[in-house]
Amino acid sequence: MPDTQQQRVLVTGAAGMLGSQVLLSMPDGMTAVGTDLCEAPGVDAPGVDLGDPAACAKLFAERGPFTGVIHCAAYTAVDKAEEESAVAQRVNGDLCGVLARQCARDGVPLVLVSTDFVFDGRGARPYREDDPTGPLSVYGATKLDGERQAREAWPTGTRVVRTQWLYGPRGRHFAGTIETLAREREELKVVDDQRGAPTSTLELAPALWDVLRLGEAGVYHAACEGDATWFDFAKAVIELRGIDTVRLEPCSTAEFPRPARRPAYSVLDCSRLTALRGKSLAPWREALSTYLGGEEH
Ligand SMILES: NC(=O)c1ccc[n+]([C@@H]2O[C@H](COP(=O)([O-])OP(=O)(O)OC[C@H]3O[C@@H](n4cnc5c(N)ncnc54)[C@H](OP(=O)(O)O)[C@@H]3O)[C@@H](O)[C@H]2O)c1
Repeated sequence: MPDTQQQRVLVTGAAGMLGSQVLLSMPDGMTAVGTDLCEAPGVDAPGVDLGDPAACAKLFAERGPFTGVIHCAAYTAVDKAEEESAVAQRVNGDLCGVLARQCARDGVPLVLVSTDFVFDGRGARPYREDDPTGPLSVYGATKLDGERQAREAWPTGTRVVRTQWLYGPRGRHFAGTIETLAREREELKVVDDQRGAPTSTLELAPALWDVLRLGEAGVYHAACEGDATWFDFAKAVIELRGIDTVRLEPCSTAEFPRPARRPAYSVLDCSRLTALRGKSLAPWREALSTYLGGEEH
């Protein structure tokens, strides 16, 4: 992506947790058009269903030309996807093909956000980009299909960025839910047998811009440094918030059955992204502290 021309980037899912932060993290010298299904701050092209090829083409014709796309829109209701697989497939799978064909037509890079749920979680070391996939859920399978469709439609222009365990200033997420529950209850049980890396959108969003500007086609893994269980994550939120009125108890996934199966281990090896940027995303606890406005570093 040449640095000399005026950059005008389409950011999808601009009303969502990640897309909203991507807009706020836009580097100097670039402009962006945010799009989503609904109206929200930062969304200047609302109501566009990107899964509709005609609507997608119209957006590119009317609001473009774009010099790149950061695609954060997705069907993200992981449990609901088990019974709404057709909608999940349309949004997470087919929509990526539509968008990638449009990007291929215009010759512009596409950064596609994907997930650790493409893995089966039976690994014993951090997953590399070329490790075999094996999604356990409809959500994971449809996201993997989106990767495939985009890479097939635009092989030299698609950059897939797999991330995990997101939280940030906008939207609903685990950190916010835990804080609310911890203030309401005397005891809280949290799953202690799934391992990943809590990742702040404040850390991830700038990395997506770097992948757009500097990256190559293929897959990148992007998560905060280190690893944790959901119990560790909850404990850190409570400690950093100084809440001492709740007793936190570890429990197993089996004690909290959910419709969609989650990988037990989905730590991501992010060295390809670290090499690209010359730095890794912050350690997860430091990033959490920054997000919560604390001073621990
Ligand atoms: N959250 C996580 O922990 C996590 C972990 C790993 C990967 N990811 C990936 O990160 C990306 C961003 O996730 P997020 O947590 O920011 O999700 P989010 O808050 O749910 O935002 C996604 C946005 O996409 C919109 N959208 C859905 N269908 C659309 C369509 N057909 N056309 C246009 N927009 C559509 C949604 O609108 P509605 O809300 O109106 O449907 C929503 O505003 C996704 O690709 C997700 O799979 C997330």
